[in-house]
Amino acid sequence: MIWVSAVIIALLLAFVLIFMCTVFIGAPYVPSLKREIEESMTNLYKVSEKDCLVDLGSGDGVVLKCACEHGAKLAYGVEINSFLIWISRWRLRKYGDRAKVVLGNIYTVKLPKETTVVYLFGDSRDNKRILRHIRAEAKRIGHPIYLISNAFTMPDMKAVKNHRTHFLYKIDN
Ligand SMILES: C[S@@+](CC[C@H](N)C(=O)[O-])C[C@H]1O[C@@H](n2cnc3c(N)ncnc32)[C@H](O)[C@@H]1O
Repeated sequence: MIWVSAVIIALLLAFVLIFMCTVFIGAPYVPSLKREIEESMTNLYKVSEKDCLVDLGSGDGVVLKCACEHGAKLAYGVEINSFLIWISRWRLRKYGDRAKVVLGNIYTVKLPKETTVVYLFGDSRDNKRILRHIRAEAKRIGHPIYLISNAFTMPDMKAVKNHRTHFLYKIDN
């Protein structure tokens, strides 16, 4: 049974390494609170069937699930941690084509053409860079994008609205 222990140890090491590495690339995995996501999708930006919501750094899929429950036509997650991708795909399985999670980097990913709103629970040190990327993407897809930021404000921008820890911005194309 030595090989069983070796496989378990290897899996545990891979698990720890993946979580540690993402800390150096971007924000660490800390899920948003379900109640606060709910409130932001109701009081701040009313997510409905006309929306395609992209969660940049989608973690365990809690935000995407909430967007599906609010009727979003597409909930699209971008995540760098494969373990979290598996968890979120399992969590979202009942939504079929309405929920998609891809392995990717939030600083380079191409947003779907139909994106209307982006959710971000990032890291203050990276907000400038991510904002630059979302602006470029709004220009590329040719329409404005709303941005819901959890916990952090965007540099040199005035929020359209805020609710508890969430801030809403409009990124013009
Ligand atoms: C603070 S958590 C937020 C998770 C989820 N959006 C939520 O609000 O519950 C940040 C997530 O971003 C992911 N992440 C960090 N840097 C990333 C990058 N460069 N590209 C893609 N995902 C990244 C982390 O693995 C983590 O799951």
